[in-house]
Amino acid sequence: MTTIYLNGRFLPLEEASIPVMDRGFLFGDGVYEVIPVYSRRPFRLHEHLDRLQASLDGIRLANPHTAQEWESLIVRSVELAEGEDQGIYLQVTRGPGPRDHAFPNTVQPTVFILPLRITPPARELVDSGVAAISAADNRWLRCDIKSTSLLPNVLLRQLSVDAGCAETLLLRDGFLSEGSASNVFVVANGLLLAPPKSNLMLPGITYDVVLELAREHGIAHAVRPIDEAELRAAGEVWITSSTREVLAVTTLDGRPIGDGRPGPVFRRMYAAYQDYKHSVMRGKALP
Ligand code: PDD
Repeated sequence: MTTIYLNGRFLPLEEASIPVMDRGFLFGDGVYEVIPVYSRRPFRLHEHLDRLQASLDGIRLANPHTAQEWESLIVRSVELAEGEDQGIYLQVTRGPGPRDHAFPNTVQPTVFILPLRITPPARELVDSGVAAISAADNRWLRCDIKSTSLLPNVLLRQLSVDAGCAETLLLRDGFLSEGSASNVFVVANGLLLAPPKSNLMLPGITYDVVLELAREHGIAHAVRPIDEAELRAAGEVWITSSTREVLAVTTLDGRPIGDGRPGPVFRRMYAAYQDYKHSVMRGKALP
């Protein structure tokens, strides 16, 4: 049985419902977070809660909970869910109201927390890498907000599913922004490159962890715009997200990246990421 949290109480998923006039349903008027949980410890919880606050600010919705309240709701959700490794999905919408684009006069936000069964990518996938396609980034100009209005991302992601691929890498005005549900890194001539945070991409929590680990492990890196030619000529391409951790992309639009296998910089980063994750799980590093 899956236990969820909805507006003040924990209850079985099957018994949960929201009014059809909820603005999350009518307009996609809400924001969300996906927080990985390893050995029952939420990973980078405070960073996720800070990003939630930024998303709420971005859509002008008051945060219904303090950080401490969020923390206890999340900790309780983790306790009630099965599995040592899992994930927490949380969503806040502008709640129910008349069908009018303008905000309702009185806002009663809907707060929903759903445990997810997240399993880190299987070793075979890590060793083989994944295929990706590219597409024009046709989303809005506030991709830094983790909004539940995901239709463009949904359509872009489906393009890669239709092509039998794991992700769609997005190019806007000739530059790499991110993936349909991930951030993207490139290794060019041994140098790890990451696109700078801006309104054109989600500031990924995993992205931050990868850059921190690069600094810590002396992996040469730079944060700067990456153009399409650099992406296509790259020796390595990676995607990162809370659900997929760090994964190598080994073909792009049917052509191999580098020698078509996960590269040496990826293998170093993957090992560093796993070490870090395990030290957090054992309580030896800050989550
Ligand atoms: N998505 N960019 C986009 C568009 C994303 O949807 C995600 C993650 C990321 C990576 O962010 P993070 O490292 O904080 O997970 C980047 C989540 C997992 C999702 O929508 O399910």
